[in-house]
Amino acid sequence: MKVCIVGASGKLGQYMLQHCLERGYEVVGVCREKSVEKLDPWKDRMTIVPGATNDRDVIQKAVRGCDAVLSVLVPWGMNNYSSGTAQAVMDFAEPGARLIFSCGWHITKDGKDKYSWVFKSVIAAAGWLARLFRVVDLNDQVEACRRIFASDTRWTVVRGSDLEEGESQGLPVWSHHVQDPILKSNITRRTDFALFMVDAITNDRLVHEAPAIVSCQSDSALEHGVKQLEGKVQRVVS
Ligand SMILES: NC(=O)c1ccc[n+]([C@@H]2O[C@H](COP(=O)([O-])OP(=O)(O)OC[C@H]3O[C@@H](n4cnc5c(N)ncnc54)[C@H](OP(=O)(O)O)[C@@H]3O)[C@@H](O)[C@H]2O)c1
Repeated sequence: MKVCIVGASGKLGQYMLQHCLERGYEVVGVCREKSVEKLDPWKDRMTIVPGATNDRDVIQKAVRGCDAVLSVLVPWGMNNYSSGTAQAVMDFAEPGARLIFSCGWHITKDGKDKYSWVFKSVIAAAGWLARLFRVVDLNDQVEACRRIFASDTRWTVVRGSDLEEGESQGLPVWSHHVQDPILKSNITRRTDFALFMVDAITNDRLVHEAPAIVSCQSDSALEHGVKQLEGKVQRVVS
């Protein structure tokens, strides 16, 4: 299995890199020139393609021959960084390659996600401030995902909850909409977000899905898991 990681030097990217290498995958990593040294611990076990992730020539070179592309979508600056990255990946990936993209719960595939007023206020305030200072353009991550959802490539958009560092707790659980009770705890270890991205490569049930994820050890996941089991036992008994 040959996998390209677009945004390999960041926090999520480094975790994905480790999970891929543990599985024995051949890895090509794309990262900014100035961040190449962050990949020093793995440089002998991977190929590094330096450059901006929305540089179409860089992406064309990096994804050649890859069975899967894992992309960290972050809407840096005001120059369509996220949508440019997603578009280049979709345009140049091998036909039939698995394309997995990361984003947050604020992205919705079918418009049926229901957000709390706190969540909406935080996103609105953060988005407004980030645009004011021209650091991040959240609307461009929305545009990137709109294009992905409309594409007939074999995509999955993984929607991360709030993140924390720490040892792995196992593969996160997921649901279709952020208001689903299993997601209530809204917390995932970053290494497990990466694990879910890597695991999605070989999980065809996630093709054309936008799973919202949460730690399998979180209160809501454990509570919901027990309820599901109880429901199954009830059905078997009655
Ligand atoms: N942070 C959260 O709480 C959270 C919650 C839910 C979902 N997510 C999603 O998780 C993914 C990873 O986000 P993260 O916050 O954890 O960060 P991260 O993994 O560290 O990724 C940030 C990426 O952006 C690159 N980058 C940083 N500054 C840049 C710049 N000025 N121009 C171009 N590229 C730049 C980094 O590359 P360098 O190594 O070159 O700096 C890195 O590849 C994103 O898709 C995000 O939407 C995050």
